[in-house]
Amino acid sequence: MNGFKGPGLRKVGSHSSLSDADDHDLSRLHDRHILSLDRQRSCDERSMNELSISIRAIDSHDSVYSPGGMRSGFSTPASSCRNPFEPHPIIAEAWEALRRSIVYFKGEPVGTIAAFDHASEEVLNYDQVFVRDFVPSALAFLMNGEPDIVKNFLLKTVYLQGWEKRIDRFKLGEGAMPASFKVLHDPVRRIDNLVADFGESAIGRVAPVDSGFWWIILLRAYTKSTGDLTLAESAECQKGIRLILALCLSEGFDTFPTLLCADGCSMIDRRMGIYGYPIEIQALFFMALRCALTMLKHDTEGKEFVEPIVKRLHALSYHMRSYFWLDFQQLNDIYRYKTEEYSHTAVNKFNVIPDSIPDWVFDFMPTRGGYFIGNVSPARMDFRWFALGNCVAILSSLATPEQSMAVMDLIEERWEELVGEMPLKVTYPAIENHEWRIVTGCDPKNTRWSYHNGGSWPVLLWLLTAACIKTGRPQIARRAIELAETRLLKDSWPEYYDGKIGRYVGKQARKFQTWSIAGYLVAKMMLEDPSHAGMVSLEEDKAMKPLIKRSASWTCPDPAN
Ligand code: GLC
Repeated sequence: MNGFKGPGLRKVGSHSSLSDADDHDLSRLHDRHILSLDRQRSCDERSMNELSISIRAIDSHDSVYSPGGMRSGFSTPASSCRNPFEPHPIIAEAWEALRRSIVYFKGEPVGTIAAFDHASEEVLNYDQVFVRDFVPSALAFLMNGEPDIVKNFLLKTVYLQGWEKRIDRFKLGEGAMPASFKVLHDPVRRIDNLVADFGESAIGRVAPVDSGFWWIILLRAYTKSTGDLTLAESAECQKGIRLILALCLSEGFDTFPTLLCADGCSMIDRRMGIYGYPIEIQALFFMALRCALTMLKHDTEGKEFVEPIVKRLHALSYHMRSYFWLDFQQLNDIYRYKTEEYSHTAVNKFNVIPDSIPDWVFDFMPTRGGYFIGNVSPARMDFRWFALGNCVAILSSLATPEQSMAVMDLIEERWEELVGEMPLKVTYPAIENHEWRIVTGCDPKNTRWSYHNGGSWPVLLWLLTAACIKTGRPQIARRAIELAETRLLKDSWPEYYDGKIGRYVGKQARKFQTWSIAGYLVAKMMLEDPSHAGMVSLEEDKAMKPLIKRSASWTCPDPAN
């Protein structure tokens, strides 16, 4: 039942950073599975059976990933040799490919390179360890009882955070985490050196806002899965958390609790019209704040952050749940909006002009289902679907339970569009023609239905699977994984697929893209043992007020306070 949390491993140190409530997540996850599955019994009979088998398997001890020590042999992952069912043949291949991508620093594993693609003429920076790309690798290693590489990675990156970061003559914020780093081996002097990129070498020169958030999320996942509190409590990590928080909680001219970002500052790291308040960043921001709250020590420096975090979480959840949420009813309301309203009684607070609603969204919106739209700012709503942001909103409980269910409903209702032949569309729909020219700056890599512009990214499978488990809808993940299995190995683990239904290997997609490999493995392992999802999922915080109906929010002051 403990996963591989060893008895007696928890609560080392006087301060129990992961709160008690949080500690129960894993066990509650199981109860909740049964509960939420009960709710769904009629439409999800098969998944019910699957999950109860998994839960029994966990209890029966034999198939548990045992605490830390059950380290697998080099190419014999616990997940494939311990599976009571016949493992899929591509699992062993995936593990081998994942291990090939490991990067060593002074003999210690510290991460995985983005792609191990020797056939590609252009290496660019795909030979580096990307922070965001390493997350699914890290989860795979944690699930397989191999936490050392994750610990080394967390320590190396927090060390890099301490570097002075400059772009031309401008100095970046202290808390910024690198997008990626590289180990340079000097065979003559037999030394290893680290080089990091904080955006100063990246195409477009954008700092990765998501890196710091992923780092915090991963630190919590490590702590949760190993029970080792010492890393999160170490002075280096506490300082790392505080520096990231200081960056994103600093006061400015903002009128919204969302975080203002430049285009290309996340997984979508090229100009794609996501500047402003992109859902991808807001959901990660929310999740990172919640994870930080469970790990921050309440010492002199740490306690300064507690109140600002709590206040921000309240304001952020209210804002996102109210203004980013779109379903049939909400769309209809926006369609009928009046404009040019002034004062606090305004219904159309951001002065969105109904004519700016794109045609596609009227057809796309099912009567059952909903999602968090891409961006909201003055007179601008980006109605596009973004997979990562919506999945992270579910995992972090930024989405209410009803909203989480509605996102799952949408994925089912719009399967052809969002999944098609390869999970999962990173954004939907693609932008084309004049809009593509204006929004992407004529980016030849982001042509319609390619790459970030409506491409399909296998890495997103792990996020989808985790969200499916959290909402008690594992059959959706199973369907998606089965689709991916028909192609991934055969196509040599591409970075992304192109086309309206994701049928073609991406135009410039790297092969042996590590996060495609790791994302698949993590999805498989989570489905096999749903308690793993606890590493990346947070229960709803009851103190967070549920969504106040939009119409009720116009006249009253912010009910979140
Ligand atoms: C591309 C992706 C980015 C990823 C990087 C390394 O630039 O857009 O999200 O981190 O490749 O795989």
